[in-house]
Amino acid sequence: MLQNSTTQYGSISKILHWAMSASIIGLVLAGFTMINLKDSALKWQIYSLHKTTGLTIMLLVPIRFIWRISQTAPTLAMLPHREQIGAKWGQYSLYTLMALMPITGWFMSTAAGYPPLLFGSLTWAAPIAKSKATSQLYGQFHWYGAWILTIAVLGHIGLAMKHHWVNHNKILKRMLPGSLNS
Ligand code: HEM
Repeated sequence: MLQNSTTQYGSISKILHWAMSASIIGLVLAGFTMINLKDSALKWQIYSLHKTTGLTIMLLVPIRFIWRISQTAPTLAMLPHREQIGAKWGQYSLYTLMALMPITGWFMSTAAGYPPLLFGSLTWAAPIAKSKATSQLYGQFHWYGAWILTIAVLGHIGLAMKHHWVNHNKILKRMLPGSLNS
C-alpha cells in the first residue's frame, strides 16, 4: 500500500519518515560531536557530511510536506480529545523544526563564507551576503533549534513508546514496516 489510509501510513510516508528520522538524528549527533573535535581532517569531513545531509533534508522537506497534505491522515480517534490536539501540535512542531534547521544552517554557513556543497560537489550558496554578524545570528538560531529539536524528538519517541507499551494501541505499529490487519 503506497498511500495512507484512515487506519495506517502507506509505504511512501513510512520511507520518508524513517529515512528522514535517521538522517536528522545522525545530523544532531554529528553536529554536537563535530563542534567539540580538535582541528583535524576528520572534523572537516564530518562538517562537510553534516552540511550535505542537511541540504538534502532541506530539499526533502517540501516533498514530504506536499505528500503529507495530499494524503489522508490516519485517525487519532482512539486518543482522548486533549491528546489528539497535542499530537497534532507535536507533528506541526516537528515539521517546523525540520524545515527551519537546514535553512538556518545553510544561511549560517553561507554568511560565514563556507557555503555547503550539495552531494559533495555542487556549491550551493544561500541568497545572503557574507557577514560575521549574520552568520553568528543564524548560528544562534541553529544552536537553540538543535536543542529544541532534540527535546521534541525525545518527547516524540517517548510518546511512541508509551502508546505501544503502556496504552497498547496501534500508533507505533502503523508507522512500522508491514501492514496492519485492521
Ligand atoms: C528526527 C526524528 C523524527 C522526526 C523528525 C519525526 C517526525 C514525525 C512526524 C512529522 C510525524 C507525523 C507524520 C505525518 O502524519 O505526516 C511522525 C509520526 C510518527 N513518528 Fe516520528 N519522527 C522522528 C522519529 C521517530 C522515532 C525514532 C519513532 C519511534 C520510536 C517515531 C515514531 C512515530 C510514529 C509512531 C508516528 C505516527 C504517529 C501517528 O500515527 O499519528 N518517530 N514523526
